[in-house]
Amino acid sequence: MRSYTFWFVLGSFLLPAQDYPGGADTYEYGGQALTELEKQGRNTWYFWTGGGEKFWRHTARITHGITDLLQYVDSRRRPERFKTMGVLNDPDCTQATQPDEFGLWMDVCKTVTIPGIPSQSSGIVGLRKFPNPKFDKFTWDVKKYLADPATVEPPYLIGMTCGFCHIGFNPLYPPKDPENPRWYNFSSAIGNQYFQEGTLFTLKMTPQDFRWHVGNRQPAGTSDTSRFATDHIFNPNAINSIVHLKDRPVATETMADGSTRNVHHILKDGADSIGTAGASLRVYVNIGMCSDYWTTLHDPIRGTERTQKPFQIALARKDCPDWRATEALMEGAEAFLKTVQPARLAPEHLAKDPELLKRGALAFADNCARCHSSKQPPAGTPDAAAWFREAVLKPDFLEDNFLSNDQRVSVAEVGTNIGRAIASNAIQGHVWEEFSSRTYKDQPPSPPLQGLYNPIKPNKPITFQPPAGGRGYYRVPTLSGVWATAPFLHNNALGLYNADPSITGRLAAFNDAMEKLLWPEKRLGTQSVWRTSQDSAVLLESGYKLKVKQGTPVHLFANINAPEMQLLRNDNFFTRLIGGIIGRGGLTGVLLRNNLSPDFVVDRGHTFGSTLSDADKRALIEFVRTF
Ligand code: HEC
Ligand code: HEC
Repeated sequence: MRSYTFWFVLGSFLLPAQDYPGGADTYEYGGQALTELEKQGRNTWYFWTGGGEKFWRHTARITHGITDLLQYVDSRRRPERFKTMGVLNDPDCTQATQPDEFGLWMDVCKTVTIPGIPSQSSGIVGLRKFPNPKFDKFTWDVKKYLADPATVEPPYLIGMTCGFCHIGFNPLYPPKDPENPRWYNFSSAIGNQYFQEGTLFTLKMTPQDFRWHVGNRQPAGTSDTSRFATDHIFNPNAINSIVHLKDRPVATETMADGSTRNVHHILKDGADSIGTAGASLRVYVNIGMCSDYWTTLHDPIRGTERTQKPFQIALARKDCPDWRATEALMEGAEAFLKTVQPARLAPEHLAKDPELLKRGALAFADNCARCHSSKQPPAGTPDAAAWFREAVLKPDFLEDNFLSNDQRVSVAEVGTNIGRAIASNAIQGHVWEEFSSRTYKDQPPSPPLQGLYNPIKPNKPITFQPPAGGRGYYRVPTLSGVWATAPFLHNNALGLYNADPSITGRLAAFNDAMEKLLWPEKRLGTQSVWRTSQDSAVLLESGYKLKVKQGTPVHLFANINAPEMQLLRNDNFFTRLIGGIIGRGGLTGVLLRNNLSPDFVVDRGHTFGSTLSDADKRALIEFVRTF
């Protein structure tokens, strides 16, 4: 008996069989058929919003349309959605030729019934459309709505699924036309490296507004995951691929109640460390689930009205039905994610010379494997270096290897930009306190950082002590399938971005990023500082416009505790006085002094392997390409 299959229902019967390289429903999972539980998990990943649509309606209201998913899905943008916003068009929809009965331009989509999931496609993969229970056709006025969504309830609510950011183009089956993909062109958890979140949040702004510059300097493929429940740090971070979950090492960590648990170090800083289901549920909250409760714990957009309070899991489980419904789906979601394999390049793209690959493998053993391998020498191995040299040459070294030890490394050791590592939402007393382990919170502070680039006075380098409480670390990321996911590093700031999802395009980005990784002198360095491209202004709540000159580092303003920011004025006597006293002059001195993350060079650090010979580096690049 043929069981329910998503690929089948979503139109496979309309397409020739060869459209599905491995067969409908199976192509990207290494050919294995999914179990019922895994299919349920896939549907959750692609289609389940956890009730977050209510939150997005709330943000549309409080931002007066600046962040309005309903306007974001406007069908007139369909022909250029990938180019302008990096989002993926749903293959089962087409562009509207006219406004719908409510005057809104919505993609025209096939009706697809997904068991247990009550929404329809909005036209963009990962954004789901619901009828709005508060809609009243007698008071509806489309013009009024578009001018300010706070004024009238719209006919639809739009919610976000995990797939919105995590589904990307399949590196092995890239679309012929990125604006018109088929289902088999997608990969479930590679991370959408082309997503332009900065554009989404600044769609309705002009370059006169400083925030526009913040959004437009945000690298593609990143999300500032601490924007809602803000930590007042602009730290957009790459939507990394989630692969080899079953091979990912676990660490034994102490929980808040003193018990111990074997957990993954989820997230860039390993902050989500209470188990995979807990980590996933936290993300549902972050994209809007249980927002009636969540939004009482922080000031969602500006972060100025109240300080954060911890989200209490027990309270959510008791009072929020969406929490309970979603929690019940997490077993399937995890089972599904465990089926996702990295995309391996076909032999035609790989080096053929076995000696070259051997040389690369040995360079990897000597310089990289202690961090980038889940196969580690057994405790007590007398000569770990020799063990690695032997291990990398075994034909199955890459099999079942997560290519990371999943450990946290201090920012002083890895040397990359500190922004994401000093995010504070998971520390004691902050919103995600209950989602990080006691072990995370008890980590010793990173050693102080010396010689950080000072963009105001380059001859006066900055010294900064990363705060304690768990902050100051980066987890070692997997290198599985890394040929397909450049630019590199937690902020996607290292290497060429070419917006080209073809194999050739991805390899060009990979080669450039690898060169810059291994030859640090080829990096942009101080040229990588994100600066404003013209004069703009920060609008303070008092109505005062704080002027920002063209060429100002966006991090100078974007990393200031927002309530303190409200006290600043260009013409403020105290600003100048304090600036004078600390000897850096004026407002910029005050901003630098109060910066929560005074680190401006975004492509620095991680110089492992940089002292190898050129021939070794070239061989290493060939070896990494096989991952
Ligand atoms: C708005 C974009 C966005 C959406 C939507 C989103 N994620 Fe993510 N996800 C990210 C980013 C960015 C990261 C990397 C964050 C980090 O590591 O600090 C990430 C990382 C993760 C990780 C950790 C990966 C790792 O290797 O440690 C998991 C697990 C995850 N997301 C699950 C989910 C789940 C579950 C959902 C749906 C509830 C979801 N994500 C929705 C952007 C998103
Ligand atoms: C001490 C541990 C350690 C060693 C040794 C190490 N790395 Fe890393 N690597 C990391 C950490 C931590 C990051 C994440 C840094 C960040 O994003 O800021 C990283 C990131 C990377 C990335 C970027 C991955 C991505 O998805 O953006 C690549 C590629 C990489 N390492 C390759 C290598 C290679 C090749 C070597 C050997 C020459 C090496 N690493 C040695 C810890 C290490």
